[in-house]
Amino acid sequence: MAYTETVKVGVLFSETGVTSAIESSQLYGTLFAISEINDAGGIGGRELVPVRYDPASDPAKYRAFAERLILTDDVQIIFGCYMSSARKAVVPIVERWNRLLFYPTLYEGFEYSENVIYTGAAPNQNSVQLADFMTSNFGARVYQVGSNYIYPYESNRIMSDLVSQYRGGAKVGERYVRLDATECDFTEIVEDIRATSPDFIFSTVVGNATQHFYRAYARAGLDPASMPIASLTTSESAVKQMGTDIAEGHFTAAPYFCSIASATNRACLEKFGRMFGCETVPNASWEAAYFQVHLFARAMCAAGSADIETLMPELLRSKFDAPQGPVSIDPSTHHTHLNPRIGRVNREGQFDIVWESPAPIRPDPYLVAHALGDWMVR
Ligand code: ACM
Repeated sequence: MAYTETVKVGVLFSETGVTSAIESSQLYGTLFAISEINDAGGIGGRELVPVRYDPASDPAKYRAFAERLILTDDVQIIFGCYMSSARKAVVPIVERWNRLLFYPTLYEGFEYSENVIYTGAAPNQNSVQLADFMTSNFGARVYQVGSNYIYPYESNRIMSDLVSQYRGGAKVGERYVRLDATECDFTEIVEDIRATSPDFIFSTVVGNATQHFYRAYARAGLDPASMPIASLTTSESAVKQMGTDIAEGHFTAAPYFCSIASATNRACLEKFGRMFGCETVPNASWEAAYFQVHLFARAMCAAGSADIETLMPELLRSKFDAPQGPVSIDPSTHHTHLNPRIGRVNREGQFDIVWESPAPIRPDPYLVAHALGDWMVR
């Protein structure tokens, strides 16, 4: 294809470090969308060119590379970040230079920036539904285990509030491990879980440590049928790392699972499999990384520029028929209307969808409408 011009975009996902598996999926979701857009003629004849760096799961490197992308590579747009600590490192940089970060990861909410578009789930699009489902089916005594940084602390606080305020439940344990935790780091925690006997466990362990937690749980002989682990971050990527025998029977809430039966999703997975299939495992963070590039491209096509002031009004009107269903940006919060689901890992390592919202749910990152039923369209 002969292009007249190029549009450089920054891509910041870790290919090494503790979140390398999940962030590599986001990287390939981004590159997949970029190649689809270029194959269809680019953005108004302009080729999208990714400029990518590997920040190695280190927030300081995210900050330095974001600055390099803006000041040396001259990009207007950055697609990137998984851990909230990385996003928090990049936000002051994009605000200072008035650039735009697209952030494709579920997170703890309670944030707004003029310079960020949030395409992962806010707590009213995953935690609320998961709290309702787990407390209705298993009981309201929750034991929380997380990685040691901001997302797990904040997400656990929200889950504690939800189970205690709306189900008369209680947090019966709360433990944190280092980001590079190994199976040994979970041995004593798993014994405490056995002794405490909660109704369910809420895991906010992220990245490559996830497999070690679920393995320690299985090795201790605990049974997901009676005391499952529920999570927002344990995706198909983590299931592949830990193996189906370990993962089967545990729950995750997310707007996207590979098992969604729609024609749009099947076609997208089939095409991705042909182009990048051996590189990574698709999952909800992959899907958000994929569709946010398409939202950007549509907006830029209409605006004619990637400059934030010109682009933003179009972006806030932009819609896309994503693999999860229709998505659009909420102008008042810069978060995304998403399609909440709850899945349970089956014998094939995929998620059986045990609950799904019949319609997209408006993002409410500050949990203003603060009652379980407010977000549950039944
Ligand atoms: C996360 O840190 N937002 C998963």
